[in-house]
Amino acid sequence: MDLADNIQKNIVELLSGSQGVDFATPAYIYSVEQVGSNYRDLKEELGTPLVVSIKANHCPELLSRTAYNFEDGCEFASLGEVRLRAGTRKKIYINSPAYTKKMVEVASRYDAVFIIDHIAQMDIIAEVKQQGTFKNEVLLRINFDSLINGANAKPKDHFGMDENGLFEAAAKAKKLEVKVAGLHIFCGSNGFVSKSGSCVDAVEKLYDTVSEMLGYQLETINLGGGFPTDWREKNIDFKTYRESISKLKEKANVIHESGRAVFGSAGYFVTEVISVKSIGSKKIVVCDGGMAQNFLLAKTEHFIRKYDRPTVIGSSLNETASDYTFVGASCNRDDVIGEINGCLYDIKPGDKVVFSNCGAYNALYTVNKFLALKEYKEYII
Ligand SMILES: Cc1ncc(COP(=O)(O)O)c(C=O)c1O
Repeated sequence: MDLADNIQKNIVELLSGSQGVDFATPAYIYSVEQVGSNYRDLKEELGTPLVVSIKANHCPELLSRTAYNFEDGCEFASLGEVRLRAGTRKKIYINSPAYTKKMVEVASRYDAVFIIDHIAQMDIIAEVKQQGTFKNEVLLRINFDSLINGANAKPKDHFGMDENGLFEAAAKAKKLEVKVAGLHIFCGSNGFVSKSGSCVDAVEKLYDTVSEMLGYQLETINLGGGFPTDWREKNIDFKTYRESISKLKEKANVIHESGRAVFGSAGYFVTEVISVKSIGSKKIVVCDGGMAQNFLLAKTEHFIRKYDRPTVIGSSLNETASDYTFVGASCNRDDVIGEINGCLYDIKPGDKVVFSNCGAYNALYTVNKFLALKEYKEYII
């Protein structure tokens, strides 16, 4: 039995109450083992250190039980995220367009590398450095689109600097005597398959110029990532990718970062059926959890909404197949979270509905204040 099958068997046992856990819904279930396996396998495929983006999952128990795997450190986007892993001895990367003095002061006490999004962040670092506490290194973040398509092209995101901004930030770091450890680029979530080659080319073009400006060789190149949750199923040609970064690896320590590829497949969302109704031939399953606890399932940000197909636990089989639409407990017309067409189960109140691949961002990216609906619970297996 492979790991995912084993985990699903565990979940069925947990939901049946046979493990003595009084299971409450809606809930997320996270597998410690799957997080560890995702981290180790992806790192091996890349052949480089792998930094974990904490923004993908904030469950304190999951983080504390999996953190020993994250040997190359974690990336934090806020002071709140730094506090989630307070006391860590691993390297941390601070990456946010919104630095505050407090954030820089706190993170500078760790082995933190500050990823500079724009030059004004160097002023905050200068202030902290004046107090004598700042001995950390920085990476300079490149805006992906401005570098690939030219400074006048419309960037698809507002992160990082164009070439001129990068040179100005490098000059400022030199003046302030802050060590620039290297460069950072991020092509966007899920962008690895289509854009990783451009990231490598862009950084290779800049490496020598920035090193010459600074008067020393850059030591670290953070190529970001953009690995999808289902990276194993995508048959990515990692061998060719490893070859494509080999020249860069001769010059510097090349690293990657990932959130969803580490946490995504380790998380399950469970909701309970409250009632089943029909409108014409359409069968609608009303659940106690929906977009208020798992906004991403509603696919509101997708141009074409293709809903996930959950697994239903507890139902008996029917003679004829039905098409079911799963909805949440709010009064929002977009609160549609799943679909099963041609389903042979006779879904009934009390059944448990389980969605896979919900371990990254799902629990955090929510509208849970709306209607004061139930909060989700978190379980670790
Ligand atoms: C700079 C940076 N690195 C890493 C990530 C993590 O992305 P993912 O979870 O898609 O791996 C993000 C996500 O927003 C990011 O902005």
